[in-house]
This record gives sequence, C-alpha cells and structure tokens, in this order.
Amino acid sequence: MSKNEYTPFLSEILEVKKHTELEYTFRLSFNGDVRPGQFFEVSLPKFGEAPISVSGMGDGYVELTIRKVGKVTNEIFELYKGNTLMMRGPYGNGFDVEDYKDKELIIIAGGTGVSPVRGVIEYFHKNRTQVKDMTVITGFKSPSFVLFQEDLKNWNDNMKLILTVDKEDDTPSDVCENTKELPAYQVGLVTQYIPAIKVKSKTDTAILVVGPPMMMRFTVQGLLKEGYPEENIWISHERKMCCGIGKCGHCKIDDVYVCLDGPVFPYTKGRLLVD
Ligand SMILES: Cc1cc2nc3c(=O)[nH]c(=O)nc-3n(C[C@H](O)[C@H](O)[C@H](O)COP(=O)(O)OP(=O)(O)OC[C@H]3O[C@@H](n4cnc5c(N)ncnc54)[C@H](O)[C@@H]3O)c2cc1C
Ligand code: FES
Repeated sequence: MSKNEYTPFLSEILEVKKHTELEYTFRLSFNGDVRPGQFFEVSLPKFGEAPISVSGMGDGYVELTIRKVGKVTNEIFELYKGNTLMMRGPYGNGFDVEDYKDKELIIIAGGTGVSPVRGVIEYFHKNRTQVKDMTVITGFKSPSFVLFQEDLKNWNDNMKLILTVDKEDDTPSDVCENTKELPAYQVGLVTQYIPAIKVKSKTDTAILVVGPPMMMRFTVQGLLKEGYPEENIWISHERKMCCGIGKCGHCKIDDVYVCLDGPVFPYTKGRLLVD
C-alpha cells in the first residue's frame, strides 16, 4: 500500500532549546530526506496544525524553531523532551544548494526568517570552498531577540557576517542565552548594510532574502538599487497554508500553489505573488 503523504506521524521531542521567551527550537525525531526551506505541518489533537520551517537537520532528527503566537504554538511550548507531537511533511521545494555553488553567496534574513536559511548557511560553512565568497546579514529586533547565537559565533569563522539589531533593549531581558556573549552587532535595519556588501561581480551572485514581508520588500529594493540582477535573488514566501500538499487551494495565488511550487521562489516569479 502506498504511503499517504497527508497522514501525520508521531515524532518525539529529543531536545528543546530556549532562545527567548517566545522562540524555542525543538529537535524532533525524523528519518528521511529534508531540505532547508521545506516545512512540516505540526499538529496537536484538539488544537490544530501549524506550518513550521525546517531550521536544522541531522542523523535521525529535524529542528523546528517556533515562535509562540497562538493556539497551536502556545500548546507546543507546554511540551518537554520525551513528549511527542504529530507531524506531516516535509513539504514544499526548499532551497537547493546546487543553485548557489560557485557563486558569491549573499544571505539576508530577519527574525525567524533565519530558520529556513540556517541549513543553507551551515552547508556552506562546512563546505566553504563550494562558493566563491559568502556574506550573511541577519537582523533581529534587539539583542535579546537574537536567535542561533552559537551558530552566529561559529559562522563568523569563515564568512562575512553582519549581525544587526533594530534597537538596543529597553530593559535587561530574561533570556536563557547570554546576550553578553553575542558576536559584535550593529544597530540599524539590515537594509542599511546592503551598500557595505563587497562582491567582485554583482552578476556572479546568488542572493537569498527571507524574513517578514516588509523586510523582504525593502531588502530586495535595496539590492536592486545597488545593481544586483533580480534573477539572482530568491525569496521564501510564507503564505497561510492548510493542507500543504496542493489540495485545498488555501495558498493558491493565480496558478501558483505556494505549498507545492514554493515556499522558495526566484524573485522574478515570487514578486508576482505579493498580494
Ligand atoms: C511555509 C511556512 C513556514 C513557517 N515557518 C515558521 C517557523 O519556522 N517558525 C514559526 O514560528 N512560524 C512559522 N510559520 C508561521 C506559523 O505557521 C504560524 O505562526 C502558526 O500557524 C500559528 O499557529 P497558532 O495556532 O499558534 O496561531 P493562531 O492562533 O492560528 O494565530 C496566531 C497568528 O498567526 C497567524 N497565522 C495563523 N495561521 C497561520 C498560517 N497557517 N500561516 C501563517 N500565519 C498564520 C495569524 O494570522 C495570527 O496572526 C510559517 C508559516 C508558513 C506558511
Ligand atoms: S495549502 Fe492547501 S493547496 Fe496549498
């Protein structure tokens, strides 16, 4: 009998990493192929389902970095190591690292938008010679909202990393990761740092932009203003989804099913999907 891709499976929570009060990474048991930028539908009976991007992967597990915003995510935050939840997926196309090899890679990500590209950054951090150069700009609200602090410190080794925060914290924040150990950061929006990106040839770049819709819009505008070709840009489009497998039409815009054809799009196609 063929496997029904709509059927959820039970996954065990192997580890929970608290980044901020509202953002945790859950390491969940999973065996199978998965790409950065793909997503799972995570569910809890009686509460519902939520699409969540893959933020990490390894032997026998995937990581999902979840922001606590409502019905389903609130309940997930009540779970501990050893508990289980239901998942379906992975769905969507994800990022294909083959598209970026031998290019000058630029990744600009904001907030939880770092999650879908984390796997791409990790891949080229480990296989640095597969890209000509690498610049990563990450933006967060304030120092206490910075996610993946350990990764940021590691990535700093062999790529140009610019960490930005919109503003300093108003009051010392109760977070588990030590903000005193943050890598050097700049205060300002990610868009301010686009002119500072140094590349040998703008035509030889691959650029990934992921974050809140406003951040993506202004970032792409900034890149185009600096003369980067639009066909070198990829974006990830987080649209409300339901089935995740092209059946319900919830995510459909014109002829495009974001859940199947995306959520990762070349900008030349993705810009037409902005409502
Ligand atoms: C492809 C994709 C990848 C995503 N990846 C992540 C991720 O890695 N981490 C993360 O924290 N969140 C991610 N999201 C957003 C996440 O799915 C929503 O925050 C989640 O569905 C909220 O569920 P809830 O029941 O807790 O909140 P609700 O009580 O349903 O609503 C709370 C808020 O979330 C919004 N929301 C509700 N349902 C969705 C939906 N299906 N898609 C988008 N927004 C919704 C509502 O407009 C409302 O503002 C992703 C969404 C998509 C479409
Ligand atoms: S979410 Fe159902 S068709 Fe895309």
